[in-house]
Amino acid sequence: MNEHTLSLRLERVAAHVPLDARLADIGSDHAYLPVALMNRGAIASAVAGEVALTPFHSAVRTVRENGLEQRISVRLANGLEAIEPGDGITALSLCGMGGETIRDLLDSGKARLHGEERLILQPNGGEQPLRQWLMDNTYRILCEEVLRENRFDYEIIVAERTGPVLYTAAQLYFGPLHMQARTPAFLAKWRRLLPLKQRTLADFAQARQPVPEAKVQALTQQVQWITQLLG
Ligand SMILES: C[S@@+](CC[C@H](N)C(=O)[O-])C[C@H]1O[C@@H](n2cnc3c(N)ncnc32)[C@H](O)[C@@H]1O
Repeated sequence: MNEHTLSLRLERVAAHVPLDARLADIGSDHAYLPVALMNRGAIASAVAGEVALTPFHSAVRTVRENGLEQRISVRLANGLEAIEPGDGITALSLCGMGGETIRDLLDSGKARLHGEERLILQPNGGEQPLRQWLMDNTYRILCEEVLRENRFDYEIIVAERTGPVLYTAAQLYFGPLHMQARTPAFLAKWRRLLPLKQRTLADFAQARQPVPEAKVQALTQQVQWITQLLG
C-alpha cells in the first residue's frame, strides 16, 4: 500500500469522503488517505493529524514528495486537537484504531466539532461502544460496510449529526443498517465469530477462577443474538 495504491480497506473509506471535502484524517500514519484523495482531485484540502513522531514524519514526507504542502497540513497533535477552527473541516476520518479509542478521541475532542462534518470511522473492533457514542451524541448512522482483507473483517461506519436517534442494544452490537441489509460479507463475519464466542463461553464454564457473572451474561447474550441473526 502507498499513496497511489490504497488498501481495499482505505479505498472503501475513501469512497465515503464527499467530493471537495475539507478532510481531517486523525491518526493518519503515512497520510496515504488524504494524499491519495488529493492526487485524485477528490478533496479540497486536508489536515493529517498524528500523535506519534515516527508516523508524523512519514506523513510529512508523503505530503512533501507529492508536492502537496499547500493543500495538506500535517500536524503533530493528540486526536481532534489537530483541527483548528479556520480549517472548516467537512469530513473527519478516524481509521485503523480500536473502536473505544476512536470513541475516546471523538469524546475528548467534541468541542472541536461544529456538528456539520461527516464522520467516516473504521474501527478495528469495539464497534458497539462506538455506535453507543454516536447515538448518545445524536449522530445517525448513514452507511455501514463490512469488508474482508488479509483474513480480517473490517467495518466502516459513516455518521452525521442529525438529531436524536434510538438504536436497540442488538442494533448497537451488529449495526442497524447491517441488520437490515444482511450482506454476504456481514453474515460471513458473524458466521466466523459464532463458534469462537461459543468456545469462549464453554471455556468460561471450565475456568478455574470464576468468571464475573456480568461477563458471562454479556457473552451469552451475544451468542443468542448471533444465533438468531444467522437463524
Ligand atoms: C494503525 S494506524 C492507522 C493508520 C491509518 N489511519 C490507516 O487506517 O491505515 C493508527 C495510527 O493512529 C495514530 N494514533 C493513535 N492514537 C492517536 C491519537 N490520540 N491522536 C492522533 N493519532 C493517533 C497512531 O500513531 C498510528 O499512526
